[in-house]
Amino acid sequence: MRQHGVPTAAGDVIRLDGVTRTYQTGAPPALANVSLAVAAGEALAVLGPSGSGKSTLLNLLAGLDKPTSGQVTVDGVRVDTLSEAASARYRRERIGMVFQFFNLLDDLTVLDNVLLPAQLAGMPSKRAQARATELLSYLRIDRHTRAYPGRLSGGERQRVAVARALMNRPPLLLADEPTGALDTASGHEVRNLLAQLNQDGQTIVLVTHDTTLAEACATRTIELTDGRIRRDTAAVAR
Ligand SMILES: Nc1ncnc2c1ncn2[C@@H]1O[C@H](COP(=O)(O)OP(=O)(O)O)[C@@H](O)[C@H]1O
Ligand SMILES: [Mg+2]
Repeated sequence: MRQHGVPTAAGDVIRLDGVTRTYQTGAPPALANVSLAVAAGEALAVLGPSGSGKSTLLNLLAGLDKPTSGQVTVDGVRVDTLSEAASARYRRERIGMVFQFFNLLDDLTVLDNVLLPAQLAGMPSKRAQARATELLSYLRIDRHTRAYPGRLSGGERQRVAVARALMNRPPLLLADEPTGALDTASGHEVRNLLAQLNQDGQTIVLVTHDTTLAEACATRTIELTDGRIRRDTAAVAR
């Protein structure tokens, strides 16, 4: 199942141009003059020690934070210049997010969790139901449609979170340590799932400490140290 159409002419889903994020004057920047282009269909793993700027990078891509200087463009949108309202809409329409601790709503069934982004986007209910059903079966959680997340294993919860993230067919899926809270078997399952999504065309940016995760599902890896890209496996290829 393809998550989006053919890459656009420019082909880049992400462009960072000279992006610096400084939190406090005097302190070294969390990101220092980072430039990066990610093409449609890539699965980019972002590695690096704690404090190296990984979350800052994800937050800038999600429009949750703004750079001190430089430009952030995602799917043709200048994310760094969006108003708060436009930024919320941007996230709803173009970004799927998966977190270490799932962030599911425990009072809602699996189905209602997955439907939520479509409802917020005003998708007609019939179409939303069809999309949710399709995703739940694609992610092999259709058995649990009416269950509450609290009754599911970690791996199943993360699959529900992935289904929710994909509901509005985002051109970009962001994942922050998606296997960080999972046991070995569930971690393996989620790794395979992300690899499958990428093979089906989904562009992914994945922040992780888990090098097996990067190896299993990234087509490209960058390593951050002190807010700079120290290594980029595509540096030669591109
Ligand atoms: N809200 C904030 N206020 C001040 N400093 C911050 C804030 N968020 C992150 N930092 C600092 O920016 C640097 C990069 O942080 P972060 O992007 O969270 O790194 P990582 O996700 O790789 O652990 C760290 O030195 C961190 O202390
Ligand atoms: Mg972090």
